[in-house]
Amino acid sequence: LQPAGRGSRLLHADCLHDEETGMIIRSWLFVPGDSERKLEKGRENVADALILDLEDSVSNDRQEIARTMVREYLQKHTDRSRQRLYVRCNPLDTDLALPDLAAIMPGRPDGICLPKVYSAKEVNTLCNYLSAFEAREGIEQGSTKILCVATETAASVLTFHTYLDGVSDRLVGMTWGAEDLAAALGASDNRGPDGDYDDVYKQVKGLCLAACRAVDVQPVGVLITNFRDDKALEEDCLRDRKAGFVGKIAIHPAQPPIINKAFTPSEEEIAHAKRVVAVFAENPGMGTVGLDGMMIDMPHLKQANTLLELADQIEAMEG
Ligand code: COA
Ligand code: MG
Repeated sequence: LQPAGRGSRLLHADCLHDEETGMIIRSWLFVPGDSERKLEKGRENVADALILDLEDSVSNDRQEIARTMVREYLQKHTDRSRQRLYVRCNPLDTDLALPDLAAIMPGRPDGICLPKVYSAKEVNTLCNYLSAFEAREGIEQGSTKILCVATETAASVLTFHTYLDGVSDRLVGMTWGAEDLAAALGASDNRGPDGDYDDVYKQVKGLCLAACRAVDVQPVGVLITNFRDDKALEEDCLRDRKAGFVGKIAIHPAQPPIINKAFTPSEEEIAHAKRVVAVFAENPGMGTVGLDGMMIDMPHLKQANTLLELADQIEAMEG
């Protein structure tokens, strides 16, 4: 039985053709869309992508101002080769989402960050809206990508399988969150007495990672809210990367340098991966060999190749 994966034929055909986004985005920095100062700071930052926010960090009475500021910012910054510019719109079940998109699409954002999804259905609905806006603006069909925040509603915990039934090829990444989910679940706290996330949040982290890998999009680690704690951030990044995530959400300009470093394979890791590849190359026909007194077999070779590919992609990106 083949999972349908991405590219359901139920979707608008033009959503399906685009496969060019080879860029690995390690750090995604949220920037409140109504703050001129923070928008300028974002541009100077090493973040691989900015997420210009029109949702939670903008108050209702500043929505219109934020839309205008974000559009003008996008129109001003047309060179996105070093840093992608995404926009977080409001949830699709609010009456703010379509006016958000109408206001900012003339700025040709690289992508939209979609909050508070219930299932893959919202991603696919957004895909169709984007097709209409791209037609209106004369933008290439399918070029506006989507990053979704996959775990902010109670229903979303139970619907990860819907991504395997067919999700728009615009989707390039998924991240998870524990703050809105806690509110949605009626929790007063999302952590236990030991300071570690409660079970349900660990579970959605794993489900998000698995769903990402199943449909071949980038798994993006959750933000940490204690933004003054660099050590906690570094540890969390390294833990995420070991688990399979390729990047992380940031909320403060001090975070992207730490995130970029943590999600870039180190010299030692690259050297080790090269030795793993070499030892198999030197022993053709062997499925398992010894290296430094450790048994290594096919999964290790696969991990080594993945790491080397990642390192190449990051090197190409940084030029
Ligand atoms: N993007 C760009 N610049 C930012 C920034 C961000 N996310 N957060 C802070 N800055 C700027 C500040 O404007 C300040 O610049 P200045 O000295 O030139 O004025 C500098 O970085 C240092 O900021 P700092 O004083 O350490 O933080 P703060 O107390 O002003 O702000 C937050 C703390 C959390 C309010 C702020 O980091 C923020 O707005 N983060 C994003 C929140 C968000 O988007 N949430 C929604 C997604 S969960
Ligand atoms: Mg939120």
